[in-house]
Amino acid sequence: MISILVLHGPNLNLLGTREPSMYGSLSLKEINGTIEDLARQEGIRVDVRQSNLEGELVTWIQEAKGQFDAIVINPAAYTHSSIAIRDAIAAVEVPTVEVHLSNLYKRESFRHRSYITAVAVGQISGFGPFGYLLGIRAALSHLKSTRQPRHS
Ligand code: DQA
Repeated sequence: MISILVLHGPNLNLLGTREPSMYGSLSLKEINGTIEDLARQEGIRVDVRQSNLEGELVTWIQEAKGQFDAIVINPAAYTHSSIAIRDAIAAVEVPTVEVHLSNLYKRESFRHRSYITAVAVGQISGFGPFGYLLGIRAALSHLKSTRQPRHS
């Protein structure tokens, strides 16, 4: 069975109350529910985690090698600062899709630079929570076109 690791970065635990005009009114728990529904529909396994800590995200990415077929990650503010997360994704060679709720390119210029995109399969930005579902579908389509599922 295809396994996808879904990672939410810092402050995304506050979704629902955090700047709802920017990030919407769904809580992280509700968003995760939509991700799990899609996983059931697609017959895949998802493991969904959130951390406010850069090192914890780095460790989870490192551990994904051999355990997961793909990663879908919203690195949140670490998108714009974390060479460590970028290097972890490059090191593990697990296909990774970058997701953002908001359209980064309509926002402040410091959000226009992502350290992650160059090591990701691609980036989804601006579709709100639906972006995670697009991200999972994009990861599945990428896996289908590039390789067989991990066997372990
Ligand atoms: C975000 C965009 C980032 O710039 C911001 O720091 C976040 C959320 C998004 O999902 O739109 O925390 O990744």
